[in-house]
Amino acid sequence: MSDFRVKKISRLHAEFSVPGDKSMSHRAAILGGLSNGICTLRNFLPSEDCVNTLNAMRALGAKVEIIDELPGYGPVNLRIHGQSMKLSPPSAPIDCGNSGTGMRLLAGLLAGQPFSSELFGDASLSSRPMGRITVPLAQMGANIETKGEKPGCAPLLIHGAKLQPIAYEMPVASAQVKSAVLLAGLFAKGKTSVTQPAETRDHTERMLASFRVSTRRDVNTITIYGGQTPEACDFTVPGDISSAAFWLVAAAALPGSRLVIRDVGLNPTRTAILNVLSRMGARMIDTLHQTDGEPIGNVEIHGAPLTGTTLLPEEIPNLIDEIPVIAVAAALAQGKTTIRNARELRVKETDRITTVVDNLRAMGAQVQEFEDGMEIEGGHPLHAAELDSHGDHRIAMAFAIAGLFASGETVIRNTECVNTSYPGFAKHLDAIRHERTDPADFAMNLSATPSA
Ligand code: S3P
Repeated sequence: MSDFRVKKISRLHAEFSVPGDKSMSHRAAILGGLSNGICTLRNFLPSEDCVNTLNAMRALGAKVEIIDELPGYGPVNLRIHGQSMKLSPPSAPIDCGNSGTGMRLLAGLLAGQPFSSELFGDASLSSRPMGRITVPLAQMGANIETKGEKPGCAPLLIHGAKLQPIAYEMPVASAQVKSAVLLAGLFAKGKTSVTQPAETRDHTERMLASFRVSTRRDVNTITIYGGQTPEACDFTVPGDISSAAFWLVAAAALPGSRLVIRDVGLNPTRTAILNVLSRMGARMIDTLHQTDGEPIGNVEIHGAPLTGTTLLPEEIPNLIDEIPVIAVAAALAQGKTTIRNARELRVKETDRITTVVDNLRAMGAQVQEFEDGMEIEGGHPLHAAELDSHGDHRIAMAFAIAGLFASGETVIRNTECVNTSYPGFAKHLDAIRHERTDPADFAMNLSATPSA
């Protein structure tokens, strides 16, 4: 088992890029595998979650050729041969590992296939709610058995069917649910629509457009017509703003620091973290250099004394994955930060309300826990602690950042989980911890692979 050991830093001057976006990498693997030709995917995230989705598409018949890979992790540049919407039955159950996105999107895809298939995952994924996707997919005609020990949980045994289109109103604001219904809708005859109670990340809609599949958006309702075949295209995945968030918080909370994160995704359904850090007092400029499809740019941030803030209800889906590290920023800020309307955090890789509150308290922060969030009275000095990630990548990384501001040596146990979303985090942490500024200290070296 690996640990992170972290001490206080006094300087952060760096410029680097983070690995590819997790949400987009899942979607690129799925749509590439469904498309009508060969798609070159660049800067794919070689994390366990996304490699599992890529392997799922392989198991469903798509051939994958690796161009370059990150040794020890997985492919970064690859070609995927699309199956023109005709998938083959997998010969074994499909492993989704730790990934809710992988499982829920694949379930949407598999619901409309003329065969049965099974999706399973690790202990954390097997305890996460799947009713949110099995309910709409069953309304479309699929028969999905949830075989987990906990009711409504994975493994999922999916008996695909000829699907009927539906107009579905999602009870929770979830991009995973929206995407599962849209992917199923691609295989249904006629018009499927899904209405979200609040705006959620729109990568599926944007990526469908890159693959020339049309969808229509009318306020918070997204409509897709079935029977469209994604047209093969090449796609470069921008850096993941949720991975950048860890360093953005570290720089924001350290007066005198300067950090540039290059080539990161700046999709407005994901950038609320930047608004929150600006509101807390960080100085920031973002420069867009791609505006069509998925916006990409650089973010430059300068640290300043931070003050607390209140997260707005409509911001929550936009920054749901960043809340653990925002809570760390809140503990380092003067005054109160209020995070409410975030009950969804309780059904992520861990119950992130409890894991964040417990770990912050162990470091000396003042936090009050609520059913749907927490209130943090910032400005109390943090001290080192021995913490557990509980197998949750974002908890491991958020508390590595907290350790950069605590007296003594903070130890975070059980940190292999960071590989589910951020291969190379340990290298970047090491460079920041030792206050290195040379871009070479942040570079991830790829090796070319002759064939799949
Ligand atoms: C994701 C959507 C979010 C997010 C997850 C990735 C996606 O989950 O927490 O890490 O790629 O669609 P929900 O849509 O369930 O909120």
